Amino acid sequence: MKSMMIVALVSGFAFTLNAQSVDGKELFVKKCATCHSLTIPQDKSKMKAPPARGVMFHMREAFGSDEKIKAHILDFVMDPSREKAICKSVKRFGVMPSLKGKVSQDELSVIADWMIKNLQMNQAEHQKMQGK
Ligand code: HEC
Repeated sequence: MKSMMIVALVSGFAFTLNAQSVDGKELFVKKCATCHSLTIPQDKSKMKAPPARGVMFHMREAFGSDEKIKAHILDFVMDPSREKAICKSVKRFGVMPSLKGKVSQDELSVIADWMIKNLQMNQAEHQKMQGK
């Protein structure tokens, strides 16, 4: 009986995680990927913003922990500014427009969790992306 409860609990938990990661990706594609491409485009001259994985490279470099990365994303997306921007590409692209009213706090929280869990880029890849 006890083991059955554990199985039910664990599979319920796995289901929740799964459902969340799907939602996070869907939301990211809808609300963010028009600017933050999920792939690294061949022709970088048409980019409107740094690719999604490049953004996360800078987030990890600047903030040690997932909690701090999440706090920055939650704040920046609603209230971006040049002073707060970590990505040096702010010089090229200008400051991101605020998404206040276009994405809810709850949606953004799911998006941030998804980004932290699923978007990685290492130093070598980042240099390659910058053409170094
Ligand atoms: C209209 C285009 C556009 C959309 C849509 C957009 N962004 Fe951005 N974003 C930018 C640009 C341009 C930058 C780079 C300049 C900067 O840092 O402000 C940026 C930078 C960022 C950064 C890095 C901030 C920093 O410290 O430099 C994060 C994190 C981010 N965006 C998250 C998101 C998320 C999450 C979404 C979707 C909810 C989103 N963006 C939607 C254009 C956009």
